[in-house]
Amino acid sequence: MMGHIHTDEAMAELLITGGAGFIGSHTSLCLLQDGHHLLVFDDFSNSSHLAINRVRQLAGKEAASRLQLMEGDIRSSAQLDKAFAARRSKIDAVIHFAGLKSVGESTLKPLSYWDVNVNGSRCLLDTMHRHGCKTLVFSSTATIYGFPDAIPIPEDAPIKPINPYGHTKAAVEQMLADVQASAPDEWRIACLRYFNPVGAHPSGLIGENPLGKPNNLFPYICQVAGGLRPQVQVFGDDWPTPDGTGVRDYIHIQDLAEGHRAALNCLLDESPQRLTLNLGSGKGISVLEMLRGMESAAGRSIPYQITERRNGDAAASVADPNMAEERLGWRTQRDLSEICRDGWAWQSQNPNGYE
Ligand code: WQD
Repeated sequence: MMGHIHTDEAMAELLITGGAGFIGSHTSLCLLQDGHHLLVFDDFSNSSHLAINRVRQLAGKEAASRLQLMEGDIRSSAQLDKAFAARRSKIDAVIHFAGLKSVGESTLKPLSYWDVNVNGSRCLLDTMHRHGCKTLVFSSTATIYGFPDAIPIPEDAPIKPINPYGHTKAAVEQMLADVQASAPDEWRIACLRYFNPVGAHPSGLIGENPLGKPNNLFPYICQVAGGLRPQVQVFGDDWPTPDGTGVRDYIHIQDLAEGHRAALNCLLDESPQRLTLNLGSGKGISVLEMLRGMESAAGRSIPYQITERRNGDAAASVADPNMAEERLGWRTQRDLSEICRDGWAWQSQNPNGYE
């Protein structure tokens, strides 16, 4: 059995796939501030170099010197091999964000989702194995629960995804389970099932930068608050919820970044294992509550219209967050007002995102 990887956590060499994206950039900043060395590997298909510049700015000169950037595709073994060879010392762990993540798009382009999310993850794992790196934090999602049987949702709830995006994430979780079972004394793996990541860094310098019309509620509300779009469409007010609108578990992106830090430290400090954890607040917030929260943060009314339900939506999705607290000593710290305050800081300072 391998012992602890680290005597000094501050010196980990990390590969961050998709590290220029929304969750990747906020997590990269958090890990730089913890003293780690990062190689951000991103194809920039849904992210911006400016996000990395802002991360460097926020991190400060010394920490920024510990961030290296490489453009590449996780489906290319050659490019991944180059990433593993790029560092002076061996990559200790990988945080794997890179992937396609739109539910709607996945129903139109399933083969792209199976290629990038599943084949890309297979290629990454094969490359890790060849380079002797067997510590991975994987970006999974609550979407794999599909229509939940009960709320809140624990990690042992049935896995029953209802769209190609969710199918690919469940498939990668299975791949990781098989890999870890093949060498249980060697692999350290954490699958983190995000609920609804929202908000932005409190500086407003980095945030969510959707390309084109946002699929998700929070960036859409921000853009209406910012005057970029006329009104919010509320997808149904006849749900079996307190105010009739959809309820979700929104997690501040800074809490999510800190959850990754806690999971990484757990893997680096402990013996080989496979962790599967919900990252959520355990609190349900409705569409109208989110809209009111943003009205308070932005100091202006946000027009909305009640429309038909969206296909594939569930009435409510809320995490049981207790296992992450028990295993990592982590739970969310930020509430709806901080989510809306920080999201508005990003939107108002960057009306056109990173353009
Ligand atoms: C939230 C609520 C909608 C938009 C999705 C993915 C999930 C994850 C997070 C990647 C629901 C309502 C939305 C709008 C609305 N992504 N809504 N008007 O669907 O819970 O989760 O994003 O991992 O995989 O499924 O998030 O923000 O789309 O919807 O009324 O314009 O807001 O009905 O109740 P969702 P969402």
